[in-house]
Amino acid sequence: MENNQSAESLERSRRLEWFRKARFGMFIHWGLYSIIGRHEWVREHERWTTSDYAKIADLWHPEMGAPRKWAKLAAESGCKYMVMTTKHHEGFCLWDSALTDFCATKKGPGRDLVAEYVEACREYGLKVGLYYSLLDWNHPDGIRSKWDGDARKRFIEYTHGLIRELLTNYGKIDILWYDVPYPLTAEEWESEKMNRMVLKLQPDIIYNNRNQTPGDFGTPEQHIVAEDRMWEACMTTQILSWGHMPLDGWRTPREAVDMLRQVAAGCGNLLLNIGPKPDGSIPAEARNIFEQVGAWLKKYGDSIFNVTDPVRFRNNLVGMYTMRDNILYFHVYRWPGSEIIASQIQNKVKSVRFMNGGEIKFRQTPDQIFMYGLPETAPDPLTTVIEIEVEGKPEYRPGFHDLGGFNKLGKDLRPPDTLFL
Ligand code: GLC
Repeated sequence: MENNQSAESLERSRRLEWFRKARFGMFIHWGLYSIIGRHEWVREHERWTTSDYAKIADLWHPEMGAPRKWAKLAAESGCKYMVMTTKHHEGFCLWDSALTDFCATKKGPGRDLVAEYVEACREYGLKVGLYYSLLDWNHPDGIRSKWDGDARKRFIEYTHGLIRELLTNYGKIDILWYDVPYPLTAEEWESEKMNRMVLKLQPDIIYNNRNQTPGDFGTPEQHIVAEDRMWEACMTTQILSWGHMPLDGWRTPREAVDMLRQVAAGCGNLLLNIGPKPDGSIPAEARNIFEQVGAWLKKYGDSIFNVTDPVRFRNNLVGMYTMRDNILYFHVYRWPGSEIIASQIQNKVKSVRFMNGGEIKFRQTPDQIFMYGLPETAPDPLTTVIEIEVEGKPEYRPGFHDLGGFNKLGKDLRPPDTLFL
């Protein structure tokens, strides 16, 4: 048993190898909900009937070549992979399915959008991820399957069949991104069997934890918390919607840069979403975020992609760290002016310099690293990275927090090894 387990975890770690280094991917939410433009849950939120919702499928005429534009932007922004919704909860299949007429080839688009997407990823050297929602509001057995045994049998066959199509008809697929297993349990979905089929069809693939099994990696959503195994945080560029939603607001490029710093600090990945417009074009705000992040990564990419360890340091509002061997990359996102105090470092500091730039004058006291003679305004408005080289492996310098002060006040009951990102 033990041997089997370790063989399985070795095998998992082989499949995960590229993903551990990938760090940054682009998520795409595109479907009929993009046309309505009021969140990808609109069918449920506004209680659309199946027949009314289905009419939208005939109105969808995306432009040719949209996925190439996403893939180009992704590659130029430093992404290593993409994940696209092949079927969201609405049930519309973006590929040519033999199992349903509610699919892109037989409705408005009149072409296989998954094929176009897969081809575009390959053209730009990106790993290919397919998102698949188990939840299905359109299939007549989708919800009924919870209490009707015959319906469940049909629906499970349909579900496994669709996944089989996706993993059979498009060559090598790198990620299967399950979503929302409502309303069934792992046993009812036959999730273990599903995973076995997936690995049989695609021996190198990785799959996430959203079919009620642990999967190959964790998927914190809209928050960034490290896990003690491989993990990927998925985040929106709009405030709350994954699908294109003109009514919603936008996050900023600086926030996106900080998301990357946070995932790198915890050795995880960031899957950052775009909801393309119905014609497939990328909203200007989303494009701007990716372009600015890409330009920033060209300068500071080493501090994000080449980290070696998670950083167990606590909050510092001026900036936080990522770590590569004996180097701490200090990401200063609130530039305080000509002097900066870097706290929390126990080790003797050998040198301090701007990443890709000049030396910085500093003085180390028993408690602090005091940097001075700096510009008054941030050299990089998105986040300036300062490289601090120390003797040995960087160690955290405990403060009041860690001595139990906050525990006594009843304010901080987090375990001491919590990863603060
Ligand atoms: C969710 C939502 C969904 C979105 C997904 C992305 O669980 O239901 O709309 O696609 O998360 O992670």
